[in-house]
Amino acid sequence: MLLLKPKQKYITNTYKLLELNKLEKKHYFYLNKYKFIVYPNVFSPKYFPFGLCFSKRLLQIIKNNSQVLEIGCGCGIISGYLGIKNKTLKITAVDINKTAVKNTIANFKAHKLKNTKVFYSNVFSKIPLEQKYDYIFWDMPFGLTNKRKLNNLEKAVFDYNYNSISRFFKNSKKHIIKGGCLLIGFSNLIGHYSLLSKLAKENNFKLQLLTLDKDTIIEGRKKADMRIYKASIVI
Ligand SMILES: C[S@@+](CC[C@H](N)C(=O)[O-])C[C@H]1O[C@@H](n2cnc3c(N)ncnc32)[C@H](O)[C@@H]1O
Repeated sequence: MLLLKPKQKYITNTYKLLELNKLEKKHYFYLNKYKFIVYPNVFSPKYFPFGLCFSKRLLQIIKNNSQVLEIGCGCGIISGYLGIKNKTLKITAVDINKTAVKNTIANFKAHKLKNTKVFYSNVFSKIPLEQKYDYIFWDMPFGLTNKRKLNNLEKAVFDYNYNSISRFFKNSKKHIIKGGCLLIGFSNLIGHYSLLSKLAKENNFKLQLLTLDKDTIIEGRKKADMRIYKASIVI
């Protein structure tokens, strides 16, 4: 049962952007000088530029030689940028959208990234049990919705009752190396921080705000609120 109300104003705006995203054919996007292809039906940084900010921030946060898992890689822009800029990282990228998986593989190949794995997974469903990471990152679909059936593009921005986010917390513990953490890309404007922190607490995680960006990335968009939270297991 949904106790919090979805934020209707943001849902309406997000649907407008999703419509534009849906009309896109194959297109390209630049992050600094690095070119990324975006396939149709994949969450596009052209309309949702959070990944641009998160990738630069993560580069500062993530230490050399780390094992990194990105849940929900989309076109692969975040993991791709990390892999290009820090060759010491071992990166695994997964997504529930099979076209996103193919898209990320194409971008990793174009940038000749080594030490990477990309495959389909519904949160941790296909992550081998014994596999552990220093950092598990998700630019998550923080739009709360009470709509149960979502298409692939909707799933990129909305989560029914925060069910996937709940599983993210619940199933992550066995995949975090001692001293490792979850990193969460979030917006308190669109997302429901109270629900995020409730889920973190219920699963024995402590949340800490690491970065907050409020700059306008795309012309015409005045307000942004892009945060990275660190979630560490409470011992
Ligand atoms: C906000 S988008 C981020 C995409 C990309 N990382 C970026 O920043 O451009 C969220 C991504 O999570 C994926 N996703 C949604 N639910 C998922 C789930 N249950 N398991 C794995 N990935 C999921 C979506 O398909 C989408 O690619």
